[in-house]
Amino acid sequence: MGKSSKDKRDAYYRLAKEQGWRARSAFKLLQLDEEFNLFGDVTRVVDLCAAPGSWSQVLSRILIQGQTVGRAAWEDKRYQELRRLREAGSLPEEYRSGLCAPPSSKPRKDVKIVAIDLQPMSPLEGITCLKADITHPSTIPLLLKALDPSYDPMSTSIEASHPVDLVLSDGAPDVTGLHDLDIYVQSQLLWAALNLALCVLKPGGKFVAKIFRGKDVDLLYAQLKVVFEGVTVSKPRSSRASSVEAFIVCTDFRPPRCFRASLDSPLGARNTLQQNGDKDLALSTERSRITRDDGIIELIVGSEPQHTDGDIRWIAPFLACGDLSSFDADASHKLPEGHVSLDPVQPPTAPPYKTALEERKKMGGAYGKTKLGTGI
Ligand SMILES: C[S@@+](CC[C@H](N)C(=O)[O-])C[C@H]1O[C@@H](n2cnc3c(N)ncnc32)[C@H](O)[C@@H]1O
Repeated sequence: MGKSSKDKRDAYYRLAKEQGWRARSAFKLLQLDEEFNLFGDVTRVVDLCAAPGSWSQVLSRILIQGQTVGRAAWEDKRYQELRRLREAGSLPEEYRSGLCAPPSSKPRKDVKIVAIDLQPMSPLEGITCLKADITHPSTIPLLLKALDPSYDPMSTSIEASHPVDLVLSDGAPDVTGLHDLDIYVQSQLLWAALNLALCVLKPGGKFVAKIFRGKDVDLLYAQLKVVFEGVTVSKPRSSRASSVEAFIVCTDFRPPRCFRASLDSPLGARNTLQQNGDKDLALSTERSRITRDDGIIELIVGSEPQHTDGDIRWIAPFLACGDLSSFDADASHKLPEGHVSLDPVQPPTAPPYKTALEERKKMGGAYGKTKLGTGI
């Protein structure tokens, strides 16, 4: 497949190159921001599984450079449209009493962004890049030290240090195509990202992560709802409808009283939390499945947290996001007149398939000497 045909089949791939994003995933975060206003009042951000770095670029453009992208661009576009309607004398009733311009975007002070990935990442101005494994406990002190060089793991416990406003995770394993296996491995990454987030988020903080919608995903929603006030599943227009991928957007982190985030017992997995001496607080992995007569599967997730009223089954609201005028990720699009196909902004620095490609090249490539050599 030529570059141009890929540009045509995937509008976001083409736009990413034209707008200077390292990956088309940038549009997923921008569209999530349009819907959820992720970056208001945010200055400390952790970008997990960040390579090649398009989400970090979004953070850099919004927080460090003060560019009008994401929510700000959407608000600006809406304001311009309403102004045009006012000039044409057809402004809707509800806006007639006053139409306010959105505040202009500007760089924020004292921004700290840390990006973490297993793969090395090309540097981005203002962003601290760490090559580390998010499933490994040693990554948290590294991250806290990157956010605050005076952080001392000997005198400040991880439990006491919660400086982060927003944790993002776009983690994905190398997919095998075996759906159940891929969903399982992805859920382990999500589990690691969530435990890391619980250890570093401020009360009121946000957590946004990629999920693969597998069959027990409502168990995950119920667990997230114990520690976050708002939990919504969202599918940006730039994420292909054919993919099981979606994003969980969790707002207003409010850990239950007596909850201590700890990697020794992630999410209270091995222990239950003690509340008022002897009453257990739910966050345990204890669970069971009941198939009801009507075929609906109920998941029982331990005993009740304080804030629910008996019904522990909880379905997160689902919101599609991204302006309706934006491209549909599953459609082919006519290329603009005079279109010239561009090279990707940042090819992967050390992709896991690099050695395989080199070996194949040495052997003449898939359609080269290998075939001729075998006389096929
Ligand atoms: C879909 S890509 C992320 C794209 C990125 N958000 C962007 O916008 O450029 C998924 C990333 O997850 C990373 N990853 C997978 N497992 C990881 C782990 N255990 N620790 C850190 N990163 C991991 C991969 O190396 C890969 O770069």
